[in-house]
Amino acid sequence: MAEILTSTYGPWGIVAGGSDGVGAAFAHGMASRGMNVVLVARRSPVLEACADDIRARHGVEARTVTLDLSSTGALAALARATSDLEVGLFVYNAGGDDRSVAFLDKDLDTHLELVHRNCAAVLEAAYRFGAPMVERKRGAMVLVTSGAAWAGGATLAAYGATKAFDLILAESLWAEWRDSGVDVLGLVLGRTDTPSLRRAEEAQGHAFAGAAADPEDVAEEALDHLADGPTWICGSDTPTGGSPFGGLNRRDAVLAMSRGASARGKGEEQH
Ligand SMILES: NC(=O)c1ccc[n+]([C@@H]2O[C@H](COP(=O)([O-])OP(=O)(O)OC[C@H]3O[C@@H](n4cnc5c(N)ncnc54)[C@H](OP(=O)(O)O)[C@@H]3O)[C@@H](O)[C@H]2O)c1
Repeated sequence: MAEILTSTYGPWGIVAGGSDGVGAAFAHGMASRGMNVVLVARRSPVLEACADDIRARHGVEARTVTLDLSSTGALAALARATSDLEVGLFVYNAGGDDRSVAFLDKDLDTHLELVHRNCAAVLEAAYRFGAPMVERKRGAMVLVTSGAAWAGGATLAAYGATKAFDLILAESLWAEWRDSGVDVLGLVLGRTDTPSLRRAEEAQGHAFAGAAADPEDVAEEALDHLADGPTWICGSDTPTGGSPFGGLNRRDAVLAMSRGASARGKGEEQH
């Protein structure tokens, strides 16, 4: 069982945003299945601690690459740092929004950094790391997206738009690569208990409370369903199903999304 991941996809995996939360859970899940991992994040001490833990617990190799994925050139640097490896699984996890506020209440540079990390860098990762997978006719790519991708919503403008980009990119690549032996999964997450989400909610002045998925459950579910793309909605009764807004018209879906974001901003529990 443990070797199925490496025999199907290859010996190494990369987790972009792999030092805590869902990314660290992915890295542990991959390592527990025998895959060596490369972890990418900005804060070196957190990254190194996660890599040490993985080596100690799973006995695989773990490399770290300290990078800011919102900076130009990050993916080229990552490709150089891993050019000696056969990368069989790429998980692009980094992508959370640290502050959910009205569009004009955030400065333009912060929006543009988010767009770079969540769109341009994701596309570049798919291009640089997907090409050798297609060439080898084996590999897998997970692009982590969000329920915020289903419709627009107040205070979610840039974040939701980038997550819709990731969803459509994943689904499109799945369609292109499905006959090439490369699995692509657009992984839609709901509220998940990560350090990043806790920081964001505490910064908004309320204690962390309410239902939230466990990152380990999320990663395990995704790793069990890498071949079940194009889209996997974590924790859903119908994980391969469509938008939870179903037959709602776009206006009503946007208003519902806005009400949900507003309630979360006030610390009210949402399901
Ligand atoms: N948590 C939720 O409730 C939730 C809900 C729906 C969807 N999601 C999606 O799930 C994914 C993970 O979310 P998360 O809550 O764990 O938060 P996150 O901040 O996106 O992910 C945390 C990981 O990404 C790294 N990271 C963040 N920005 C980075 C950057 N610019 N360059 C390099 N590494 C970076 C962090 O390390 P450093 O900070 O050290 O860089 C850490 O390893 C995201 O794509 C998010 O959109 C989360």
